[in-house]
Amino acid sequence: MGRSRASLHLALFPFPLQGHITPMMQLASLLHSRGFSITIVHAHFNAPDPRNHPHFRFESFADGIDPDLVAGMGIMDQVYTIIAHCEQPLVSLMKRIQSGDEFVDCIVSDSLYSGGRVAGELGLPWVVLRTNSPTSFMLFGSFVLLHQLGYLPVKDPEAMIKELPPFRVKDLPIVEDNQTERFFKTMTEVVDSTLKSSAILMNSFDKLEQPALDWIRSRTQAPVYLLGPLCATYSAANPGTMFQQDRSCLTWLDRHAHGSVIYISIGSVATMSPAELVELAQGLGDCQHPFLWVIRPGSVKSEESVRFLDRFADETKDRGCMVKWAPQTEVLAHPAVGVFMSHCGWNSTLESICAGKPMLCWPAFGDQKVNTRMICHVWGNGMEMGEKLESEKVKNSVRELIMGEKEGKKIREKARLLQELALDSLKVGGSSHTAVNELKAHISSLNSPNCESN
Ligand code: UDX
Repeated sequence: MGRSRASLHLALFPFPLQGHITPMMQLASLLHSRGFSITIVHAHFNAPDPRNHPHFRFESFADGIDPDLVAGMGIMDQVYTIIAHCEQPLVSLMKRIQSGDEFVDCIVSDSLYSGGRVAGELGLPWVVLRTNSPTSFMLFGSFVLLHQLGYLPVKDPEAMIKELPPFRVKDLPIVEDNQTERFFKTMTEVVDSTLKSSAILMNSFDKLEQPALDWIRSRTQAPVYLLGPLCATYSAANPGTMFQQDRSCLTWLDRHAHGSVIYISIGSVATMSPAELVELAQGLGDCQHPFLWVIRPGSVKSEESVRFLDRFADETKDRGCMVKWAPQTEVLAHPAVGVFMSHCGWNSTLESICAGKPMLCWPAFGDQKVNTRMICHVWGNGMEMGEKLESEKVKNSVRELIMGEKEGKKIREKARLLQELALDSLKVGGSSHTAVNELKAHISSLNSPNCESN
């Protein structure tokens, strides 16, 4: 190419699902604040809103995805559909961008895309963002071994995996109804391809997941940069959420005592059965604490459940607030929130850590189970709900986490300690802050003939 300019231009490819868009947009802001020029290259499906990011350039491609069709699919079928519809248009768009004046120096791709193939076709260096935890990555990367050892496909969910403590078979990042050869093959390919990139970016921080980092570093020549928690590097209210935030709940929180409110959210994908909904509502009703409950459209499927919720909202309106989508990072940071009952998606887990809030863990599938195991058995900042949601368990767990003087107190203290560690890593001289500088030097070295780093 032989073209030079002052700042490096990165093209970032967010995978168009909420849990992936959020950290990619946070990463984009972080890199922009350190002097990179940013172009977000994205599908029309679940497109981020450029108005939330005036400093970036946005380029989009038509993908032919039918949103109604995708909404009715399980999570892995959504992933396969997106990959099948997006990769070729992404390459074509990038070829067009590269033929113009605003050519890109390096690709930063979500690991679910075959960034290596795209980068190879374009002759560009390629860096990967893993949007879930290093520990989950290690477990995805252990699928072949776990098959050889006879743990997979699952026969005994309770079995302890003695080669990978502290995990039991039921903690593995699998989607129960999707234990197909295709699933294991896809996830193994994602790990293998990520390990071949020019650098691996992780939304985590030093000291949190050392065994997984050792595992990753022993299997790749690429440098691994821990840049997170990305949520705490991001100051704007909305990193690109697919749903409209209802900010009225912040005013509602202002009216409540410090540490008194339970906040409940199951993220952007998980759903709840009618029976679970009734148990949860009853537990919240019985525990007598104020609650802020996110009921995402589509997360409760039956009409009868919707009517039940309307009645419940009416009966509990003196101490309950129910919204379709909350400004979650602000909610968690609010002093009134005492406990986060969560599905434990990786973004929610990190957001809770950064806010120093104890978690009541109720994972649905995939890496949420890994995160739950880490929270409850390694980090100690949360308590497990157990597979069966029961009102009595909800009531007792919430009370323990909010006011308990034994287990609850210990968990609250761990949550505060973890918050300190997380925020320290982002301070000047902290491990994540330093990692961004190292990443910048690394990307510059990949581009040295064309570009001076500023
Ligand atoms: C999905 C998978 O379920 C998860 O296991 C994986 O780690 C990432 O992809 P999702 O269900 O979207 O994640 O959960 P999570 O990773 O926690 O991301 C949800 C995001 O939505 C968080 O950033 C959270 O702050 C935001 N959110 C959620 C809101 O802004 N408002 C809400 O009301 C609920």
